[in-house]
Amino acid sequence: MSKNYDLPGPKSKEILDLQDQYEPSCRASAAPVVWAEAHGATVTDVDGNEYIDWTSGVLCANIGHSHPHWVKAIQAQVAKVTMPYAYPTEPRATYAKRIVEAMPDHARNLDTCFLLSTGSEATEAAMRIAKRVTGRHEVISFWGSFHGRTWGAMSMAGMRSTKNNWGPLMPGTIYAPYPYFYRCPFGSRTEQECADKCIEWLDHKMRYESIGDLAAVITEPYQGGAGFIIPPDGFLKKLQEWTHEQGALFIDDEIQASFGRTGKMWYMEHDQLSPDFCCIGKGIANGIPTAALMGNHELFDALNPGEMSSTTGANPVSAAAANAVLDVFESEDQVAGQVRSSGRCAPQGPGDRPGVRQVEGDEGAGTRPDD
Ligand SMILES: Cc1ncc(COP(=O)(O)O)c(C=O)c1O
Repeated sequence: MSKNYDLPGPKSKEILDLQDQYEPSCRASAAPVVWAEAHGATVTDVDGNEYIDWTSGVLCANIGHSHPHWVKAIQAQVAKVTMPYAYPTEPRATYAKRIVEAMPDHARNLDTCFLLSTGSEATEAAMRIAKRVTGRHEVISFWGSFHGRTWGAMSMAGMRSTKNNWGPLMPGTIYAPYPYFYRCPFGSRTEQECADKCIEWLDHKMRYESIGDLAAVITEPYQGGAGFIIPPDGFLKKLQEWTHEQGALFIDDEIQASFGRTGKMWYMEHDQLSPDFCCIGKGIANGIPTAALMGNHELFDALNPGEMSSTTGANPVSAAAANAVLDVFESEDQVAGQVRSSGRCAPQGPGDRPGVRQVEGDEGAGTRPDD
């Protein structure tokens, strides 16, 4: 098939028209490329055009699209059993053990895994269990943050676009400035100063906005939706300490930042964190809807049986896909081979790339070639 990048191509146009007619306009917006197949990092559209998937399947396809081992594992499981609901299955039980064992040594407190279907469920569950455990109701989240689209998760977002016109939001949510050095709200001259000011500001938040009832602090270890904002070294560790000084729980939302995306399996390894909860999703099953909340068994003991179950959470197909992802990480040394070579993550600031500057729109910041 000859390639024609005049988008949308004729077949793509037919499908886009169907979608426009029968699906509501509230879908997320994307380029007019109708995917037919994706393998590794290459996407082919229905008109036969090929693309590199720089979105990595919206940060899910960490082992590449349609990895053969993953495909085989899912196919085999679908042919056996797909929906036993809460009845135990071997892939589920095995996965829970494997993912707990995959936690880094400094986070051995995360000895239990609550399997769910979406990242939003995981952040909601972390927030709700933190409230139950502490008997308090306030949550601190950060400017620029994104934690999902259900009500509680959305309420914790530090971005206008996610929560625009959806009020009233969850009572007790307190938003604090994030150490985004390039746009430091305090005009700091060094990254360290910016980080220190943000920690200091948390005390002001407690003094003037809190009712002294802080249950949890939730943060993405790097802010994804805000434009891949990496905090200054040491900030997360200080934040964890500060949170514990308040008697609150520290929630690390690694839904986007884990599974090798920043050169280590877990972002928390960069800062040797021991969060009380770690939310994982996206790359966990390479795109099959799956998520998990990692935490200590004593925290989960605050829940009654069935209180937070999920119909499709940890179904055997998801578990088989998630097991296959771990197999690939173990056997192909994905983290070392493919990611570590490129350093910690995205560039620290636009100054790292000549000709690139940072811009900010409704969805937060991003980078684009300089005009
Ligand atoms: C950091 C973070 N938290 C939570 C979520 C929500 O996950 P989901 O879309 O699976 O509900 C996302 C998704 O983009 C995310 O990036």
